[in-house]
Parts: sequence; C-alpha cells; structure tokens
Amino acid sequence: MSDFDVEPLHPDFGARITGVDLGAPLSEPEVESIREAIDTWSLLCFPGQAMTDEAHLDFTRRLGEPEAEHVTLGKTGKVVYFGTVGNVTADGGTHGNAHPRTRYQTGNEMWHSDSSFRLVPSFVSITHAYEVPGEGGGTHFVSMRSAYERLPGDLQATIDPLHVLHDYVFSRSQVALVDPAHAASLPPVAHRLVRTNPRNGRKGYYVGSHARSIVGWSGIESRRLIDDLLERATRPEDVYTHQWQAGDTVIWDNRCLLHRGAGYDADRWRRRMRQTRVAGACPTLEE
Ligand code: OGA
Ligand code: MN
Repeated sequence: MSDFDVEPLHPDFGARITGVDLGAPLSEPEVESIREAIDTWSLLCFPGQAMTDEAHLDFTRRLGEPEAEHVTLGKTGKVVYFGTVGNVTADGGTHGNAHPRTRYQTGNEMWHSDSSFRLVPSFVSITHAYEVPGEGGGTHFVSMRSAYERLPGDLQATIDPLHVLHDYVFSRSQVALVDPAHAASLPPVAHRLVRTNPRNGRKGYYVGSHARSIVGWSGIESRRLIDDLLERATRPEDVYTHQWQAGDTVIWDNRCLLHRGAGYDADRWRRRMRQTRVAGACPTLEE
C-alpha cells in the first residue's frame, strides 16, 4: 500500500496499517489499496481510529454491499447493518456472564467464519473496538489458505471438488436455543469446500463451526474430514491472537480466515465492539 505503513502480524497473514484515517473520505486509489491489502494479508488492523457508526457504515459501503445482520433479519425481517459484540447495552449498562445474550455470544468462541451459513456469505467483517476488557477478550485468527497450502497434495486433490453444507442451527444449538423464526430464515446451504481468491489465485478451504457435512459423504466420514481440516488449520503456532485496543478497526477476510473469541469475564469487564460486514459477490458455487 503506497502511502501506508505496513507491519506484518503473523508469518501466515495479518498486517498492522498506520498512516490512514478510515473516518475521512478516502480516494478511490486508497480504497483500491485496501482491497489489494485484504487479498494479500487477509487481516488488517488500523489502530487509533476515531470511529463513529456513520463513518463505519460509509467506509463499509466503499468496500461493497453491507450485509444485513442476520439475527434481527431472521427474527423481525428488519434490515440493520450493525452487530454489537460484547456485553454493553444500548443504555450503557452491562450484561454479566449469566445473561442470555452473553451466553449466546459464547457461540463465537467456536472457530467460525462470519455468515458462512448464508447462501452469499460475507466477504469481510469490519469491527471497531470502543471498550475492551483489561484482561481477556482477545480474538484468535487462523488462515485456511495457509492451512490448504500445508496439506499433502493427495488431500488437496481429494477436497478440491467437494461441497460442504454450512448450517447455523447445527452450530448455534450447541450453546443456545435458536429462535424459531431466525432458524427458519437460515436453512443449510452448500458451499465449495475449496475457494479460490479471484485476484491472486490462492486457494483455501472453508470450514468452521457451521460446517456440518460434506455433500454426498456419510456422516462419520464427513465429520472426520471436517474435524481433521479444522485441527490442521488451528495448531497453536498457526494462531494470531488479536488483543484489542480501544480505537482498533480490524478488517478480516471471511473467505479465508477463521476466528473465535478467547472469552472474558463479563461480570468484571466492559467490552463493546461494533461490527459491519460486506456481503460476498455471489454464492460460492458460482465463484
Ligand atoms: C466477531 C466474533 C469473537 C469475539 O466479532 O465476529 O466472532 O468475541 N468475535 O472476539
Ligand atoms: Mn464472528
């Protein structure tokens, strides 16, 4: 990125970028540099941003179509673009560990790719940290692109043509009951198991907590493969842990990264992050 300072965060992926104010109107070449950087680095952290919801949504639109937040959409049919991550309520209070919303968010502590359960899944998530815990509350990331590149050639050849079902109710019902209208809005969807970045041709596999089964495979064989791929992607040395600072804006590429919350003590700390997502270009089977 021409005028921006880039510092790698992990050997596989991730960059810390300074010298850009995301809240100011960006030129088209600057936005194009950010698009390129997403394809190259998969995760971009812009520290010290003075963000507002308005600037956040304006910036989101520069990268593509904002994605409707699926919980509100499924329950009420209403389109809202922001999700709030953490335990701070709209009136500035907090929910503790026992609150249903806090428990629901523990689903994010399983490795996942945002919106992988949608027919057109998310391209990137854009998350801004407003308040962060003094202890815990990090987010772990791994690259399914690097994981694919580490696979033996015969396993790459086995998985290249496969399709995988992603299913929100399958994953979330492990931690909480899913509202019936919300569940009905999210039937299982088939995706390519191996996705290719259109700009640089790098391949990655697409698994995570929502990945339920391989199309056409028996239950046990499916689970073995999906669990094996997840394990291969998430060895401790593969993980970049983002320890959030207030003012961080982080963009991550959901096409090729998995992430999970590290957890924190919601009885003790405040955590407030606002998130938008940019929708992908099309269903993965049409990529
Ligand atoms: C997310 C997410 C996990 C966390 O923001 O999409 O899954 O709590 N976050 O850090
Ligand atoms: Mn997430």
